[in-house]
Amino acid sequence: MTHTMPAPTPDRTRSDDWWRHAVVYQIYPRSFADSDGDGLGDIDGIRSRLDYLVELGVDAIWLSPFYPSPLADGGYDVSDHRAVDPRLGTTDGIRALIEGAHARGLKIIVDIVPNHTSDQHEWFQRALAAPAGSPERDRYVFRDGTGPDGAEPPSDWRSHFGGSAWARLPDGQWYLHLFAPEQPDLNWGNPEVRADLIRTLRFWGDLGVDGFRVDVAHGLAKDLSEPLRSQPNLDRALPLDGTDPLYDRDELDDIYREWRELFDSYSPPLMAVAESWAPPARVWRYARSTSLGQAFNFELSTAAWDAGQFRAVIENGLESARRTAATTTWVLSNHDIVRHTTRYALPAGIDLDAWLLGGGADPAPDRALGTARARAAALLMLALPGSVYVYQGDELALPEVSDLAPEQLHDPIWLRTDGAQKGRDGARVPLPWDATGEHLGFSTATPWLPLPEAFRDLAVATQDADPESTLNLYRAAIRCRALLDPSGDIAWLDAPEGALHFAHPNGWRCFTNFGDAAVSVEIGERILGSAPGMDAGVVPPNATLWYR
Ligand code: NOJ
Repeated sequence: MTHTMPAPTPDRTRSDDWWRHAVVYQIYPRSFADSDGDGLGDIDGIRSRLDYLVELGVDAIWLSPFYPSPLADGGYDVSDHRAVDPRLGTTDGIRALIEGAHARGLKIIVDIVPNHTSDQHEWFQRALAAPAGSPERDRYVFRDGTGPDGAEPPSDWRSHFGGSAWARLPDGQWYLHLFAPEQPDLNWGNPEVRADLIRTLRFWGDLGVDGFRVDVAHGLAKDLSEPLRSQPNLDRALPLDGTDPLYDRDELDDIYREWRELFDSYSPPLMAVAESWAPPARVWRYARSTSLGQAFNFELSTAAWDAGQFRAVIENGLESARRTAATTTWVLSNHDIVRHTTRYALPAGIDLDAWLLGGGADPAPDRALGTARARAAALLMLALPGSVYVYQGDELALPEVSDLAPEQLHDPIWLRTDGAQKGRDGARVPLPWDATGEHLGFSTATPWLPLPEAFRDLAVATQDADPESTLNLYRAAIRCRALLDPSGDIAWLDAPEGALHFAHPNGWRCFTNFGDAAVSVEIGERILGSAPGMDAGVVPPNATLWYR
């Protein structure tokens, strides 16, 4: 592949605004690289691969939780927010990782889980030992049940992982868990809870992290006034007015204002990005400069491979950012979503849960098509203003591992739905580093999730040596993006149906062909293409061309 490569990458890491148009690489620590041969990725494994990330060209790393956890929800059940899981490393190891990253100009973002703790957290254990109505129980959401003998849950609230959001204790009281029963929800009306989270943020801020990804940012503030209100809206289609009893409530503003004051006391200020599954009309609230500063926009990850849908998503995202001083974000995949290389390999509108349940065989994914579209989508996304969040393995075009056997699954979704949904493990399979060896360079021991044979051809070492590989496409695109400057306002240009075409003020243009037939574009100079050729501006189906 030939690229018109502009001059070397400038050092953008010194600016306070480094996050606005950053490329952030999400690491799922247990699946990235294993340094000590126990089958589990770890902190030193990440440190040993920092140069890989430098070569990829990303600005920052987001680490999914690495805290002590009984792993009832892949680490999002935290038993100590200010420590490191001993299976993954130590606080000194994290310090060394931060130093190693900073020495290379990489920023570090850590995941903060403020909505709930693990049931093994000291606070919850104390709450269990304390009587109803005690201050220990007030840190969580305990209630008496309804119906005869209080045997019915306090309300109809449902867990995201299936079943009631209430679990009953032997003493008859119930506690709230919007996720797994092993993840009791904290009571954010309790000042002790607020103060403790500030301590947590300060702990990691003082250790040197550059920002936070805030888990379930739309869920902390709840209307717990009696009688508890019904929340029949279980499909995440939230009301647009902030009146839901559980999600996206206006009281969150006050919580995040306090965090923002703390973030701004650091130099440069710490950044934060909200994981808020709020509707587009509300999500900008989390991105205000008095709040977290940036919010995930997940709409690309739910859009079909369709020009109209992509255009609407892009317009919504940019419009949402215009309402604040923030920038939008772009996400194709993460650890909760079926990988996009596979989504694009399947017919549009397919029920992915049912497909996964069938082992991913019916229909068989068209891998070549999925990979072509994934490459085109990556180039389109990397041409947009705002922050791009790349999930580990996206740069290798890894597919979803759809044929994990039931006994290999860890996701609580599988258990809580009684096997009706397979869950998210297929997106969390460890990375293949080498094409040789039983575990493809991830570990010398049996990995916690097995790497499929299909990963062998996609290993880093193999792709590194292939100039046409997806890995080398990402490397080239991320470097070009930094040099071309994605921050300007884009303008839509004419395009035939089934294509998207836009220009940056500096003349950098992006054309994506979503259709089935090649399209010709008049170009000056080709910069980069997701498919071979295109020097004369002929863009094949499922391809993106950057030109000027
Ligand atoms: C969102 C995280 O991304 C997901 O993995 C987790 O299960 C839930 N929040 C609960 O913490």
